[in-house]
Amino acid sequence: MSDDQPPAPALLLAKLGPGVSLEEAAGGVLKARFDRESLVLGKFSANAARRAGQLATGVSLSRLHETDTPEEKELRGLIQRLALYGLVEYRLARGPEAPDIVVIEPQMRDYQPSLQKLDPARSYVLSRFAFLRRRGEDLVLESPLAGAVIRLCDPRVATALARLATPQTLADLRGAPEFFGEEFLALLVHSAMAFAPDPAKGLRRSEGDGDLALWEFHDLLFHMRSTNGRHANPTGGLYAHANLAPQPPAVRPAWPGQAIALEAIADAKGSAVAALLRQRRSERVFDDAHPITLAEVARFLDGAARIVARQKLSEAYGEEMEIAARPYPSGGASYELELYLAVDTCEGLPRGFYHYDADRHALVSIEVTERQLDAMIDDGQFAMGAPRRPQIMITMAARFGRVSWKYSGFAYSLVLKHVGVVMQTLYLMATEMELGACAIGVGDIDLFARMTALPFHVEGAVGQMAIGRAAAQGPP
Ligand SMILES: Cc1cc2nc3c(=O)[nH]c(=O)nc-3n(C[C@H](O)[C@H](O)[C@H](O)COP(=O)(O)O)c2cc1C
Repeated sequence: MSDDQPPAPALLLAKLGPGVSLEEAAGGVLKARFDRESLVLGKFSANAARRAGQLATGVSLSRLHETDTPEEKELRGLIQRLALYGLVEYRLARGPEAPDIVVIEPQMRDYQPSLQKLDPARSYVLSRFAFLRRRGEDLVLESPLAGAVIRLCDPRVATALARLATPQTLADLRGAPEFFGEEFLALLVHSAMAFAPDPAKGLRRSEGDGDLALWEFHDLLFHMRSTNGRHANPTGGLYAHANLAPQPPAVRPAWPGQAIALEAIADAKGSAVAALLRQRRSERVFDDAHPITLAEVARFLDGAARIVARQKLSEAYGEEMEIAARPYPSGGASYELELYLAVDTCEGLPRGFYHYDADRHALVSIEVTERQLDAMIDDGQFAMGAPRRPQIMITMAARFGRVSWKYSGFAYSLVLKHVGVVMQTLYLMATEMELGACAIGVGDIDLFARMTALPFHVEGAVGQMAIGRAAAQGPP
C-alpha cells in the first residue's frame, strides 16, 4: 500500500459462512439457518444477541479477546459453536466495512485464526507445502499443514506471496509496493503457511521437525486430502460426477486380438489358497452375544502381523537398513505399518485402545478418552452402514519415515499399496479363522493423532478394518 498515510492495521473478523443466517426465537434462543436446516445455538442475553447480528459482516476477534465482559464471553461461545459446525469464516480486513484482503475458511473443527507475533530481527519465507490454485472462481492458498484455506480477495496478495518465495524481513516487506501490513504475514505464520527459517539449517530442515523434512510436497498433500480429519471438503460415495459421464462398464470391453481360452487348460480346483480367496467376504454385522475372544485376537495377529525375522541389509550408497519382516510383502522391506486396536467388545480383553507390539507379540494399552474410543468405533459402524458397532476396529498407522527416508517420488503411494497388502492378509487370516472382517476406506486422521498424541505426519492413520464374530456365524 503506497498511500502517504500508513494504512489502518488489518483486523481478524469472524463472520457467518456463505448461506448462513441467524434467527432469534422466543426467550433469547438463537438459531442458525443454512441449507434448509436449522440449528439451535442456545439462549443468549439481549446484548449478546444484538452483537451476534454483527456476525453478518464481521466481529473483531482481537477486540473480543481483549475484554472479558459476560457479553463478550457469550459471543466467543457462540462463535466457537458455529465454528464446530463449519458455519463461520474469518475475514482479514481493515474494518467491518472495509474490503476483504483475504477470507479464511476453517478446515478443522478446533481451528481459530490468530495473528502470530513477528520478530523484526528474523526473516520469513513461504512454507514449501503452501500452494495457490483456482477453485471455481476463487484463488485459494492451501497447505496440508494448515487448519484453514485462505481465499485471496485482492490480486496484490498473490504478488505478496510471490515475494515470500525467498526469506524476507519485515523491513524488506514494508518497502514493497504490495505490502499489506504485517497482519497478513502474521496470519500466514500462525497458519503454518509461512515460517522463520534458521539460516544455519537451511529452508527444508528448519521447517518443522526432522520427520517433516522427509516428506515431499505431493505426498503430504495426498495424505491429507485423500482421507478425513484435516479438511472440510465433501467425501464419500456422493456420485458428484455422475452427470458428467456414463458409468464405466464393470467388465472391460475385450481387446480385438485373438483370445486363448484358458478354461480347458487348467483351473484352481484343489488349491487351498484359491478356496480361501473365494470364501472371503466382507462382514459388517457382528454377533454381540458371542464376541471375538482374546485367544482369537492373539492367533489372528500372530498369523497375519507378527514380526517373523529381523536382519540388517546393506543398501545402495553405502547405507544400511534394519528390517523387521512380517508375514506379508512390503516395498523395500520397509514394514512401516503398525496396528492399533480400538476394542469395543472382546472376551478376555477390556474395552480400550491398544498398540500391537509386533516384536513382542503383545497388546500395549494406550490411554484415550471414552469419547475418542466411541468416536473411532462409531466411525467404523457408519462407514459400513452397519446396524451395530464392530467389535474391534483396527487402524493401520504408517511410520512414514521408514519409507521416505529411502524412497523419493512415490513414498506415500507405496504406503497405500502396503495398506492394500495388509488388508487382504487380514481378510484371509480372518476367513481361515471363520471371523468376520471388513475393510474401511477412510478414517479420521486427526482423531487418531489426538488419541496417540502423534503428529499426523510422523505416524499417521492410513487404513482401517473392522473385525469380530460375524452375526450369521453364531457361537464358535
Ligand atoms: C480399500 C477398501 C476399502 C473399503 N471400504 C469400505 C467401507 O468404507 N465400508 C464398507 O462397508 N466396505 C468397504 N470395503 C469393502 C468392499 O465394499 C467389499 O470388499 C466389496 O463390496 C466386495 O465385497 P466382498 O469383500 O464381500 O467380496 C472396502 C474394501 C476395500 C478393499
